[in-house]
Amino acid sequence: MDKLSNIILLTLLLAFTANAQKNKFLWGVASAAYQVEGAYQADGKGESKWDFLTNKVGVTQFLIGEKQTGNVAINMYDRTQYLKDIQLMKELGVNAYRFSLAWSRIIPDGTGEPNEKALAHYDQLIDDVIAAGLEPVVTLYHFDYPVVLMQKGGWGNPEMIKWYTNYASVILKRYGKKVKKFITFNEPYIEFFLVEYMLNLDQSKESANVRYAKGMQKAHRQLLANAAVIKMYHDMKLGGSVGITLNLSPCVPMDEYNTNDIKVTSLQDELLNTIFLDALYKGHYPSRAIDSLKKYDPSFQPTKEEMKQIADNKPDFLGINFYAPAFVKYDAKAPMSTTWLENNPDSIKSNGPVRPEYLHKLLIHLKNEYGNPPMVITENGASFNNNEDSIVNGQVNDVLRADYIKRHISSALQARKEGANLQGYFVWSGWDNFEWVFGYTKRFGIIYVDYTTQRRTPKQSYYVYREILRDQK
Ligand code: FCB
Repeated sequence: MDKLSNIILLTLLLAFTANAQKNKFLWGVASAAYQVEGAYQADGKGESKWDFLTNKVGVTQFLIGEKQTGNVAINMYDRTQYLKDIQLMKELGVNAYRFSLAWSRIIPDGTGEPNEKALAHYDQLIDDVIAAGLEPVVTLYHFDYPVVLMQKGGWGNPEMIKWYTNYASVILKRYGKKVKKFITFNEPYIEFFLVEYMLNLDQSKESANVRYAKGMQKAHRQLLANAAVIKMYHDMKLGGSVGITLNLSPCVPMDEYNTNDIKVTSLQDELLNTIFLDALYKGHYPSRAIDSLKKYDPSFQPTKEEMKQIADNKPDFLGINFYAPAFVKYDAKAPMSTTWLENNPDSIKSNGPVRPEYLHKLLIHLKNEYGNPPMVITENGASFNNNEDSIVNGQVNDVLRADYIKRHISSALQARKEGANLQGYFVWSGWDNFEWVFGYTKRFGIIYVDYTTQRRTPKQSYYVYREILRDQK
C-alpha cells in the first residue's frame, strides 16, 4: 500500500474509533458528593446546605430519630479509598462512573474565588477515573450547595441563576476538555416539591397548598439556570454533551376503581413528570398543574421569553432516574389533594413498588411523546426493608436487589430494541451511602459498606450486574 492509502486507512480507523467511542452504551454506577465524600472540612471546603441540615438542624432526627451526618460518609474524598473503589468498578466491568462535584468545595462561599485545592482534587479524581478506562459523567449539582447561598434564600432568590452559572463556568473551563458528559441538575422535583416542602425550614405557617406551590418558582429558576449553562456549554464548543436528570415515575391510580384516585392521577402525572418534560421539550408547562399551582402562588408568572429560553436550549440527553411508578391516591389534606410516595401495594417493603415493566413504558412514552431524545438512565436501584443487606459468612445475599436490577435492565433493553434512544444505564448506587434524611438506615449499594471500618464487600447484586455486563460484550 502506498503512503496515501495508509493515511486514508488510518484516518478512517480513527474516525471509526471516535464514533464508536461516542456511540458506546454507557454502563455504570452512580454516586453523589455529599452522600459519599465525607471530609466535610478538608482542603478549605465551605459549609454546605447539607452540612448545615445534618449537623445543625439535625434533619435525620425527624425520620430515623437519630442525628446522622455526611461528615465522614463513605470516605470517598480520600484518594487511597477512592482508588480501591475505582478498582472495584473495573472488576465489575462498567465503562462509566457518574459522580457529582461539591460546589461548597470549589467555591466555598458560593460566589467568591475558586478554591484551587478542591479543583486540583477533582482534577486528580477525573484523571484517575479516566485512567481506569471509565468515562466520567459529572453532575454539577446534586441537591447540595454553599450554605451562605441558602441563607440568601437559595433558589427562592433570583440571583441564584447567576451564582450557579458562575460556578458552572468554573467547572466547564477547568474540566470541559477531559469530561465529555455533564449533568446540570439532579431531580429538581425531589429537591423542591419533596425535600424542601417536607422540611419547611422557614417554619412557614402557610397552608400545605401554598407552601407546595411556592416550590414551582424555584423549580422554574432551576430550569432557567439549566438553559443558561447548556447554552454556555454549547458556545464553548467542547465537543461533549450536557444533560439534566429528572426523576420520572409513570402515574397509576392506587385503586383503579376509585374515581377520586383516577381524577388526581393525571394531575399528579403533570406535577411529577410533565411539568419538567413539557417545559424542556415543548416550551410550555402543562395547564392543569400550572393553573393549580398559580392559584396558590399567583406571583408565579413565567414569561414567554423564559419558556422559549428553556426550550431553545434543550439538553443533549435526558438523564432519567427511575425507581418505581407512582401509585396515586386522593387525599384531601395533601397538597393538591394527591399523594404517591408512601403508597406501595407490595407486601415486601422497599423504597417503592417493584414494577420493571413501567421502565419500559416510560422509555417508550418518552420516545413517542417527546421526540425520542437521547436518554440515559442515570439512576436505578432499590433498598429493601427486609435486612437482606447484612454480612452472613462473609457474603451479602441481596437477592431482591439483584433481581430488581436484572429485571429493570432487561425492561430497559427491551425498550431500546423497540427504538427508544437509550444510551446508558447506571445503578444507584455503587456503594451503600448516606441516604439524605434517612441517614445510613437505607442501603442502596451493590457494594456493602461497613460504616465503622469503611470496609467494602461486593454484594450478590454486584456479581449479578457483572454477569449482565459480561453478556453484553
Ligand atoms: C435519588 C437521589 C439519590 C439517592 C436515590 C436513592 O432521589 O438522586 O441521591 O438518594 O434517590
